[in-house]
Amino acid sequence: MSEQKRPEPKRLFIETYGCQMNVYDSERMRDVLTPLGYAIADKPDDADLVILNTCHIREKATEKVYSEIGRLRAHKERRASEGKGMTITIAGCVAQAEGEEIIRRAPEVDLVVGPQAYHKLPELIARAARKTGERLAADFTAQEKFDALPARAPDGVTAFLSIQEGCDKFCTFCVVPYTRGAEYSRPLADVVAEARALAEGGVREITLLGQNVNAYHGQSRGGSASFAELLDALAQIDGVERLRYTTSHPIEMTDELIGLHGSEPKLMPYLHLPVQSGSDRILKAMNRRHDAAFYRDIVSRLRALRPDIALSTDFIVGFPGEREREFEDTLQLVHEIGFASAYSFKYSARPGTPAAAMMGQVSEEAKAERLARLHALLSDQQRAFNASQIERVLPILVTGDGRMPGQKHGRTPYSQSVHFQDTQTENGEIVPVRILAASQNSLTGARLELAPEAA
Ligand code: SAH
Ligand code: SF4
Ligand code: F3S
Repeated sequence: MSEQKRPEPKRLFIETYGCQMNVYDSERMRDVLTPLGYAIADKPDDADLVILNTCHIREKATEKVYSEIGRLRAHKERRASEGKGMTITIAGCVAQAEGEEIIRRAPEVDLVVGPQAYHKLPELIARAARKTGERLAADFTAQEKFDALPARAPDGVTAFLSIQEGCDKFCTFCVVPYTRGAEYSRPLADVVAEARALAEGGVREITLLGQNVNAYHGQSRGGSASFAELLDALAQIDGVERLRYTTSHPIEMTDELIGLHGSEPKLMPYLHLPVQSGSDRILKAMNRRHDAAFYRDIVSRLRALRPDIALSTDFIVGFPGEREREFEDTLQLVHEIGFASAYSFKYSARPGTPAAAMMGQVSEEAKAERLARLHALLSDQQRAFNASQIERVLPILVTGDGRMPGQKHGRTPYSQSVHFQDTQTENGEIVPVRILAASQNSLTGARLELAPEAA
């Protein structure tokens, strides 16, 4: 009997830029494409299909995409000389915002696909590959996308779950309402079913995702479910031990949701709540719809109910018109609140957003100088927060192997990475670990033996 030579699997390389929504979307694109015989490649050089899942949030993010396309061109040409193809697909927010422009600037791109069309990828890619030179852009609604994506096969003990897309807030600096469109919340039953499937597949920690995740208002049997009601429903699922969510907007922190942080043990004591600025005038110009006192009040109510809650946030420095004393209001807010972690960015003017046309654009030097000062303060706070865990015994969700042989890696309730000596614990277990040392970005610890009666 002659052996049939198995066809080489086609190779798929996906590069992800930007936020966790994109990380989730990339996983879902992989889920759509692997049943077609694609194997995942770890570099683009020899891939049959390359997808760049792009981000448009700041100018640098967008520019990165064009330089990556430039690098791919060489690989595509080399493969063509060997008689092989490479389909280059641009997905994500740059695709949505600049579809036409990409096609004009980068002739080697075969397909441009917006964030709501990923369920159509097999068909779009087949068409793009058949008709060389034809380039397509496609758009659908968020609902269609979620309904059509296949069931998921989780590959770890933590997972993202997208519950909401788009944004209607229109902060004056931000492209998201233009790239991701109007806000859409998935029906409660769909989210619960996906969470249940994740738990059955071994997932213990779920991070709910949305650009405005706490504005969730999904359809439910009783009409419309609030975000707090959704969290409550997810907390009932056996196997789901930890719930997190990102990213939330201060004006959507309802009493019900703040209350849940005090009463629901599965809701982890960590919250990413972007504030952007500590100056009321700047917050108003940003159209954030709240002032600094409102933010302080949410934090004090959360801390009253959950004193150990760790806070994380985002800042923009050098928003148009920002003066030194307004920047100092931001520093003051940071001093008062104390953040466990934070992201800070120089304001980047985005074409088509109201702030890009505002008077008083801040010089690059002033932005860089303010960013450095803010960064230094936030780094100190992060280091201090990590150091404050030393000697504590924390429940650690074990997620995989650690940095060194014989070590495991896991996460604290506050989302910090921990490496500790242990070879027996299985991924997905939650075990007591004494924290022994802390650095800027992670902790090390020692696994405590279980007391004999509990063993
Ligand atoms: N939906 C989230 C933010 C998503 S974008 C929220 O409402 O908080 C992530 C972060 O990028 C924002 O919080 C903001 O700090 C930053 N960002 C957005 N647009 C920006 C711009 N034009 N320049 C600099 N940073 C920006
Ligand atoms: Fe952008 Fe503001 Fe919407 Fe966040 S809330 S995605 S910053 S417009
Ligand atoms: Fe970037 Fe789009 Fe996310 S612009 S931050 S990838 S929603």
